[in-house]
Amino acid sequence: MASATFTVQQDTALTNSHFTLSVAQTASLRSQLKSQRGILNSNNIKVLCAQLNVSDDVLLQGLVPLASEYAVAPVSGFHVGAIVKALDEKGEVNFYFGANVEFDHQALSLVVHAEQSAINNAWLNGAKKIVKIAISDAPCGYCRQFMNELADAKEFDILLPDQQFKLAELLPHSFGPTDLGNEFSLFNPKPQQGNFSFDGLDETLARFALNAYVPYSQNFSAVKISTFSDGDFYGSYAENAAYSPSLSPLQSALSQFFLAGLSFNESTVKGITLLETAGRENQSQVAKAVLASFTHLPALKVISAPLK
Ligand code: THU
Ligand code: ZN
Repeated sequence: MASATFTVQQDTALTNSHFTLSVAQTASLRSQLKSQRGILNSNNIKVLCAQLNVSDDVLLQGLVPLASEYAVAPVSGFHVGAIVKALDEKGEVNFYFGANVEFDHQALSLVVHAEQSAINNAWLNGAKKIVKIAISDAPCGYCRQFMNELADAKEFDILLPDQQFKLAELLPHSFGPTDLGNEFSLFNPKPQQGNFSFDGLDETLARFALNAYVPYSQNFSAVKISTFSDGDFYGSYAENAAYSPSLSPLQSALSQFFLAGLSFNESTVKGITLLETAGRENQSQVAKAVLASFTHLPALKVISAPLK
């Protein structure tokens, strides 16, 4: 079993058909992305657009190769990058990076796709409306289905290196939340009634669990990965009407962890905690399966709490 080692380049310039960044500019962008955990805010975007004399859409597409550097792909060696352009609550544009994550010696179905990673990054970090998603490769059927769970599924643009689509063109005659009688969606969830009992619980972890999108199993759940010196990483459960493309809370948290350019091993990871809704638990076995891909990690701590 291999521990996932992280392979972001440090000394190469970003050159593409849209623009060229010098080695120094690329290095500073890489360190900015690492410290901001895979997010460029509106100010970062404005500075880069002015520096390169390009629009934010050209910047978006030109940065996709940088996103693919965050891929952890020990099985395929195939690095996919995606960046979501979304508006935050102030209506400002932010870029949320994403990349695929594979797990050595585990079922291929556990893989996190780059598109899921970027959408998850946006969802967890305050994005309110997705405008575009730029991807290094055509989105697979599973990702098309994952995107069909978004409130903006009909509107946003899907940018491939040389083409642009709406989701309806890539996923005609689709199956989605309304087929199951669900009028809500990933960026427009049902307002929460009730609350977790916070007694003795990590409040941030409980907040991420409450923010989970779980219209099909009702298992409000989240994962916290705490590190020795790089802070905490959280993920929430994001379900999908077709069930299989759902993103587990551990996958969600791990994807966030890798976007910070860290290696997932015992010298970095202090603890991993899963919080689930009592009576609706469905995440501990899949979390253990994902973690079995790594050695010498602290044991998964599982907490079940009742919804009040
Ligand atoms: N992959 C993506 O990340 N997005 C797609 O839509 C196509 C496939 C990843 C999954 C797996 O890690 C690798 O590419 C090979 O399929
Ligand atoms: Zn995919």
